[in-house]
Amino acid sequence: MSSTTNYKRRQFLQYSAGAAAASFLPQVLLAQTNTVKSRASANFHPDVEIEFTTRNAFAPIFQQGPKTAVFKYNAHVLKGPQNTVLPLKNNYLGPILNFIKGQKIRIYFNNKLDEPSVIHWHGLHVPQKSDGHPMYAIQPGEQFVYEFEVKNRAGTSFYHSHTHERTATQVYKGLAGLIQITDDEEQKLDLPSGEYDIPMVLQDRSFNSRNQLTYLRGMRNRVMGFLGEQILVNGKPNMRFDVKTRAYRFRVLNGSNSRIYKLGWEDGTPLIAMGTDAGLLEKPVSKPYFMLAPGERVELWLDFSGRKVGSELVMYSLPHSGTMPMMYERMHGRGGMGMGMMGGRRGGMGMMSGGIPQGSKFKIASFHISKKVTDSPTLPSHLVNIPRLTERDVDNANNPIPIALRMMPIMSPRLNGMSFSMNRVIPLEEVELGSIKKIKIFHEQMGHMGRGGMGMMGGGMGGMMSMAHPIHLHGQQYQVLSRKMTGSRQDAYATVKDGFINEGWKDTVLVMPGEQVEIIKPFQDYKGLFLYHCHNLEHEDLGMMRQFYVG
Ligand code: C2O
Ligand code: CU
Ligand code: CU
Repeated sequence: MSSTTNYKRRQFLQYSAGAAAASFLPQVLLAQTNTVKSRASANFHPDVEIEFTTRNAFAPIFQQGPKTAVFKYNAHVLKGPQNTVLPLKNNYLGPILNFIKGQKIRIYFNNKLDEPSVIHWHGLHVPQKSDGHPMYAIQPGEQFVYEFEVKNRAGTSFYHSHTHERTATQVYKGLAGLIQITDDEEQKLDLPSGEYDIPMVLQDRSFNSRNQLTYLRGMRNRVMGFLGEQILVNGKPNMRFDVKTRAYRFRVLNGSNSRIYKLGWEDGTPLIAMGTDAGLLEKPVSKPYFMLAPGERVELWLDFSGRKVGSELVMYSLPHSGTMPMMYERMHGRGGMGMGMMGGRRGGMGMMSGGIPQGSKFKIASFHISKKVTDSPTLPSHLVNIPRLTERDVDNANNPIPIALRMMPIMSPRLNGMSFSMNRVIPLEEVELGSIKKIKIFHEQMGHMGRGGMGMMGGGMGGMMSMAHPIHLHGQQYQVLSRKMTGSRQDAYATVKDGFINEGWKDTVLVMPGEQVEIIKPFQDYKGLFLYHCHNLEHEDLGMMRQFYVG
């Protein structure tokens, strides 16, 4: 029996063992799919009210030449602390939102674009109706009201468009912004703050000669994901930070559509992380480099103490391999070994994907030591308490919920063999409210598949197409239980494996070809539909998305 048949059989057994084999959602949920407008609710008493708008705008990305046509979020505070919204002038990125744990937030969102849109608060644990599910997209001219309590601990998240089959293009045009949350636990620590607490949003874009954004060319790029020619940090090219001789907190977010970064210094000095996707770590983690896939965050403790005034440090994305299909990597002369420098606008070997090849070395930003000071805080050895979840906490230790990743059929990457469906879940996606589950994310072995067109392409085709997927789950954060690499691309894996942070809370995890990642995720507080998907935004829009029904 082929492994696929085995898998189907297991699925079947799971279905029949599950409660009702109802694959359609309860009527009440279906009814909501048509209710696109929403009003403020009388029984929710917000501490903070914000008015949000998205519209067409022009942003000065380059110092020379015309401004760039973008989509832009604007926001202002109607009620609550004024610093809840920090607008970024002359930037396509949305304003930075500063939330405090426990605050009740109400957001009035007005869509002034010419297409539908919806906002998702990535990393925040909020009710279904305020989570930015694509079913709640509003049409031009409409308003949607989000209401949620900030349940998250101190950390860095972000918000972005989650519009059905338009997430990639809307985020690409600018619909994303940072969220910073603080809480009492964090306030007790003497962490770098104010001017020493700096966002670092990484994105890649391509432009034409008139400074206008260009997007995908051709099907191949959609399947692999968009890779830009130009690296932007906080919405600007050639980013240079002027820093003093002390410690900083840099909140790094990978806001790219599909580019994976391997953050590191050019001289090999290790990096220190103090936080991940969903907040501070228990204690700082030091590694030679950090892998950062789309949707992931890492908070860096960067200490420039002792550096000479006038000197400069360059942070790179270091060469790595194994994230792309084997065919792609062969064409880019990679197989475990690094590549040359590929930076620069419209530079490099762009023939394949029209962008800086995935895995090549390029400059992210430079840090210019501009002033000597002596007030540096020291790195705390302990940050916050994080209860470690183990298999004893879950109710399905021997029967993990599978998330099987598959790149076939071409143009339709899938999860558990299925594409996204707005109003369906299958029994294995029905989870009891309050439960804690083990989930196993792995690459489906396509090699032995003997039906359809796949058989004709020979045994290795599925494996040849296999690539890394950053898997994001909405709702509550999870912990990584284990990582296992059983695939054949071990040499390539060796170029990335030391850069994963498996401590702390996560909401997005990069799963390399041949790798299996087990996570433990609580499903508490809120009933309803919560998406899980590949955060390669091209994959997401191609349907590599499903949802859990928590009930
Ligand atoms: Cu950042 Cu469902 O997304
Ligand atoms: Cu999300
Ligand atoms: Cu993917």
